[in-house]
Amino acid sequence: MEQFLVDKTQDESRQGEAYAPTHAREAQYNRHFYIESYGCQMNFADSEVVASILQGEGFGATRNVEEADLIFINTCSIREKAEQTVRKRLTEFKKLKKNNKQLLIGVLGCMAERLKSKFLEEEKLVDIVVGPDAYRSLPSLVMEAAGGQKAVNVLLSREETYADIAPVRLDSNGVSAFVSIMRGCNNMCSFCVVPFTRGRERSRDWKSIIEECKDLFEKGYKEVTLLGQNVDSYYYTSTQPDAPVVTFANLLEKVAQISPNLLVRFSTSHPKDITDEVLYTMAKYENICNYIHLPVQSGSSRILQLMNRTYTREWYMAKVDRIRSIIPDCGISSDIIAGFCTEEESDHEDTLSIMRYSKYDFSYMFFYSERPGTLAARRYQDDVPEKTKKRRLQEIVALQNQLSLESNQKEIGKKYKVLIEGDSKKNEQEWKARTSHNKVVVFPKTNLSHKKGDFVTVQITECTQATLRGEIVLS
Ligand code: 5AD
Ligand code: SF4
Repeated sequence: MEQFLVDKTQDESRQGEAYAPTHAREAQYNRHFYIESYGCQMNFADSEVVASILQGEGFGATRNVEEADLIFINTCSIREKAEQTVRKRLTEFKKLKKNNKQLLIGVLGCMAERLKSKFLEEEKLVDIVVGPDAYRSLPSLVMEAAGGQKAVNVLLSREETYADIAPVRLDSNGVSAFVSIMRGCNNMCSFCVVPFTRGRERSRDWKSIIEECKDLFEKGYKEVTLLGQNVDSYYYTSTQPDAPVVTFANLLEKVAQISPNLLVRFSTSHPKDITDEVLYTMAKYENICNYIHLPVQSGSSRILQLMNRTYTREWYMAKVDRIRSIIPDCGISSDIIAGFCTEEESDHEDTLSIMRYSKYDFSYMFFYSERPGTLAARRYQDDVPEKTKKRRLQEIVALQNQLSLESNQKEIGKKYKVLIEGDSKKNEQEWKARTSHNKVVVFPKTNLSHKKGDFVTVQITECTQATLRGEIVLS
């Protein structure tokens, strides 16, 4: 699950907005909803399921919060700061009620699950509270709230995958889409609140995944990213007696076979679960991008054990070697936590050295933030002083910047076939794309016949630590 979108330490060029405003006001509807999403890509994908459910009830999307009848905020609990941001935003939304007495405000996602009816009782910030497995009950909850009742559903499910709900693509570039393949997480990483807020792991029926990907491709999409907290443990067993089991490698292959012109990405991989079979499938299909997000969290075996990551430093390094031997040209990125409980200077040095060993192309880096109810909060003391955590994080960020620059410098002169995703953020005269390794590349719009969704060959000419710059060449 580990790829998160809201954090200042993350590389801006790869981030979405802190929230995803929905598409422009859908005029054919009388009533409108506004939805903002925080946190991981999974939340953004869930908001598209919510949008589909609300549309079925006659609500259209709007980008303008002032004209909304319903406001939803899809929340993240991963770090304390994420929750603070949401609270601030909810206070702002509440003020809109002065001019619109009918306005209903709902909180969705992990923070709803964690705080449950506390939101209604103690804080009186919202009218509706819905956990990640309860979105189907939104229509009845909205009715209850409109009738002045408390509307809460935070039941977690062992089965819900929303397999049959066709997501309404919000704020999409029409070229790349996220497809959720599983929900929940069975790993009990001791720092992580997700197993408590998103419940047990379950895999979505592979047929519905393939149908969704095919449908996207038919609608002109050229890239799908398969999403799950831990995609490599995808495992679908049908209720039909002789139907074969489908593993993540099988699923990846099925998606890749839809068309060679559909790029396939996935996130996130827990190092313990990514198999050789997955790596060989990646190597076999050119349209499966050569990129793995492989969070290490820490480079110290002692800390990894306290984190309950179930691998050692040496085991992780061997996994990196294995990836590089099967897919020699593979981008690897990571999540890293600085200052976990009991972390000493020598553990921190181990983290820096595993970063050098793995040569991450980029990383999402955080300092440890204790989350109530997690194993770490119950078992260990959050004993690394904040100043030390921040200093170590800074050192990690500085090293990553250097590694990213070195990795990008190696790209100069190389040619890549890339998918045009849209305009570059900074300059409308330039396109933005990503290489197979998930590196952002910008290049001038030299040929006016090119458009978003086209594949072009780009030669890399320059780079910064965050971005490659190139020019379109003949392949
Ligand atoms: N404190 C800091 N970072 C955390 N992460 C998860 N839980 C915490 C926490 N309590 C990080 C991990 C994970 C990423 C999504 O967020 O690195 O992979
Ligand atoms: Fe990811 Fe571990 Fe949290 Fe599961 S418990 S979501 S694997 S960090």
